[in-house]
Amino acid sequence: MVLLSTESERFLASLRSKIANIMKEASAVSVFKDSVLQPVRLQKARCACFIPLSWQSANGCRMRVRVRLNACLTAWPNEQGEGETGNSPGAVTEDEITRAALTIAFAMLNPDYVAWDVERYADMTKNGVESKQHEKLRKYFSTSPRGKISEPTTIVDNHGKILVWYLPNILSPERVNFINVATKGLRGLLLRSIPVLSENKKQTWRSGNFLERDGEFGAGRLTISPAYFMLGHERLQDPLVTSASYSAKEVQDWLGVMSSTEFFWNAVTGAIAPDLFDAGLTAISEVQGKTRAFTNSVPVSQWPSIFSALEVIANRVTLPHRDAGGAPSHYDMLVSLGIGHDAIFSIKDLEADLDYFPGTMCFICGKVLEHSVGPWKKGERFVLAHFIKDKVHDRVCVDRPPFPVQGDFLHLVGSKDDRPKKRLRTK
Ligand SMILES: [Fe+2]
Repeated sequence: MVLLSTESERFLASLRSKIANIMKEASAVSVFKDSVLQPVRLQKARCACFIPLSWQSANGCRMRVRVRLNACLTAWPNEQGEGETGNSPGAVTEDEITRAALTIAFAMLNPDYVAWDVERYADMTKNGVESKQHEKLRKYFSTSPRGKISEPTTIVDNHGKILVWYLPNILSPERVNFINVATKGLRGLLLRSIPVLSENKKQTWRSGNFLERDGEFGAGRLTISPAYFMLGHERLQDPLVTSASYSAKEVQDWLGVMSSTEFFWNAVTGAIAPDLFDAGLTAISEVQGKTRAFTNSVPVSQWPSIFSALEVIANRVTLPHRDAGGAPSHYDMLVSLGIGHDAIFSIKDLEADLDYFPGTMCFICGKVLEHSVGPWKKGERFVLAHFIKDKVHDRVCVDRPPFPVQGDFLHLVGSKDDRPKKRLRTK
């Protein structure tokens, strides 16, 4: 637990500092005038995000940004062997943090807007598979089709609340290789997780729809949590328990290898959603001592994430759904991995199709936005889906975090501040 906190905070401090510098240098003047966002200034800042300041006023700077960004990504050294990251195994490098900072900064400066309020939208949505209520939702909350999205982007509501952080290529190829190699060790467990069909037992879509089973990752779905409520025992007075899979040797070996990467992802979460990071870290700290341990259970203190659970889902088609267990402002942190696939992550409520190739991270409010991943044409894919169970946070008296707001980040553009400003909240 000490490592979770100190290592995540260390990465977060570095990431915030780099983002603040990139944003400060992105424009000589603030993108706000009298507290009102100025689109022209924002466009200039976005253009300047990856190019020297002297290029700011040049025509076609946006095109140059793309050229420079693409050059940055393709020039990334990629000569290490499979599964190596350059330093000690799994260690996160300064270059990786810089790459993440640039991607996040660009997403901050590349907003796409919806004309409605996400919290009011959430009031009208229903959980479950492929809701039939889109026609009704469209009557109250109109949206225009976004189509394909391939660049780092934020999707923002009419009050500046951020619904989606789309961060393609945020992970280096070496990091993707490293995780791929580690996750092959879960192949047997994944395959055994697929339920055997019987006439009496109805299979849910989450436990079916697997494609390739003979590949390097097999197929299947593992849910891993250090503290959750057993099904049917979800009252506040019921005990939290550790999932059996958390204590499995293969999973512990995998989590051990993944710990630095998870600490880094905690920092990415902290950079884009500071209140969620605080809530997650507090909750994981609080569930220690409140979780019923079975014989041979691994202690909660070894859990490396600020999210209360994660799923490893390999080679499965994901049907359209909303996730029931979180709160509207609890992002799911989805990390797309695997080898050479061309999957698309679709968000029907936004009419958006996001490129979902390996190395992409996507933060979405999965309780509010219906999402899916259809069949892909080539390669193998798996996702590490991190999420928060609202009832677990409630059990340990952790408040729901507010949505991160665009203004918190855009105030950094042209600002003399060194770090993102946090909003003052009234309780
Ligand atoms: Fe989901």
